[in-house]
Amino acid sequence: MNYEDVMKLALERGFYFPSCEVYADAHAGFWEYGPSGVGLKNKFLELWRRELVRRDGMLEIDGSQIMSKSVFEASGHLGNFADPIIKCTKCNSTFRADRTIAEIAQVEIPESADLNEFDNAISQNNIKCPKCKGDFDKTKKFNMMFKVGIGPQEEEAYLRPETCQSIFVDFPRLFKTMRGKLPLGIAQVGKSFRNEIAPRQSLLRLREFYQAEIEVFCNPKKLQEVENFLEIEKIVIRVQIDSEPVSMTCKEAVESGIIPNKFVAYYLGILTEFYEKTGVDISKSRFRKLGDKEKAFYAEVAFDFEVETTIGWLELVACNYRSDYDLSSHSTKSKEKFEVMDNDEKVLPHVFEISMGIDRSLYTILEHSLKDDKEHERIVLSLKPYLAPIHVGILSLVKKDGLKEKTDEIFLHIKRKFDVFLDHSGAIGRRYRRLDEIGAPFAITIDHQTLEDETVTIRRRDSMEQTRIDVNEVDSILSESVAFP
Ligand code: GLY
Repeated sequence: MNYEDVMKLALERGFYFPSCEVYADAHAGFWEYGPSGVGLKNKFLELWRRELVRRDGMLEIDGSQIMSKSVFEASGHLGNFADPIIKCTKCNSTFRADRTIAEIAQVEIPESADLNEFDNAISQNNIKCPKCKGDFDKTKKFNMMFKVGIGPQEEEAYLRPETCQSIFVDFPRLFKTMRGKLPLGIAQVGKSFRNEIAPRQSLLRLREFYQAEIEVFCNPKKLQEVENFLEIEKIVIRVQIDSEPVSMTCKEAVESGIIPNKFVAYYLGILTEFYEKTGVDISKSRFRKLGDKEKAFYAEVAFDFEVETTIGWLELVACNYRSDYDLSSHSTKSKEKFEVMDNDEKVLPHVFEISMGIDRSLYTILEHSLKDDKEHERIVLSLKPYLAPIHVGILSLVKKDGLKEKTDEIFLHIKRKFDVFLDHSGAIGRRYRRLDEIGAPFAITIDHQTLEDETVTIRRRDSMEQTRIDVNEVDSILSESVAFP
């Protein structure tokens, strides 16, 4: 199933849809999650917490979305967080230089390249405005942060372009008050904001989007001393340094020097394990090492975790070794101390970052889980049961003869523990199809026999198998299947 199929499902089954869609002045790059999307997102995040955050006792915070100008002066975003843009001298339309050149002339130039590289490519390939064929002005930089004015004086501040800045700024307090010890992971989930020049493809390039970021603070002298490395050394990761991804265990990746140390390999290993549990097809994934021109300005070494979809490779996670870039910049700017003690040694920690794009991850899970079951003429969303927005549909075969009341009674009991959809009306086949499309792993049907012997029919989404069970068994069957792994 492809991007269009996922989009159709998203719009028709309440996963996501455009923001402000009833108004003509709605802006591109803003999307809303409907009930099915929120259910999936919440469960995805619960899995993220279980597999990554709680696994090693990381701390989770929830910081402000608006942060002061000083933060972004120190972080470098005011100076560097900019995309190359080109403006048509005739119709004034503006485009991203790197994308326009790639689309028209198939020439790939990294977004952080020198501006004259874009100008040269434009003149060498005779690239004109796609709208009016006019000439382009010289390439300029466009800062992607959203500026806001605080209070009546409209003091300058910004919507955060990445969630991690509050983690850096809060680090000294958290280390002290939470009795931190290196290595220390600090995590945050929330919205970030980027004024993209060309937002597109629904959840894939948004101006307001969700990130789940983890910053692991470490002693740079101890990157080969990872207590839990044994736990993950046999996990197979796919790493791409040159043209093709190569599969290898985390241990092999470190021993061959492809991954620089055990510390980085450990997190790539647990990240792979996490995505495997989301239902993403790991055989279509790679950790792609970024070249110097592709890396973010704060990254010393960077691997993007990318997954192949029907619209190409998508970057789901940026894994950046940020060194002491952030802590030393905030320390210099704020004049506060950011060094901490690691046993008897005073260190300014280095940071390894696992920066996850939630929206893109959810899109990929949907695409990899969506199946066209031609034999049974149905679309099935084969989500992992623990990620399904609805665990079980509770259906009365008909409303009359006391079946509605019996169904309501069973619903009241089951909804205490599970996410349930109650449905009394419509043809049963169509109701099953709808549940298949939102990924509900089970449906339970209450019929006349239920009134006689307290049994119900349980239907399994993937096999479509239907069995008659005692109503008292429902709880244990669901508990076993929808529990997090
Ligand atoms: N914090 C890294 C990123 O937002 O890509």
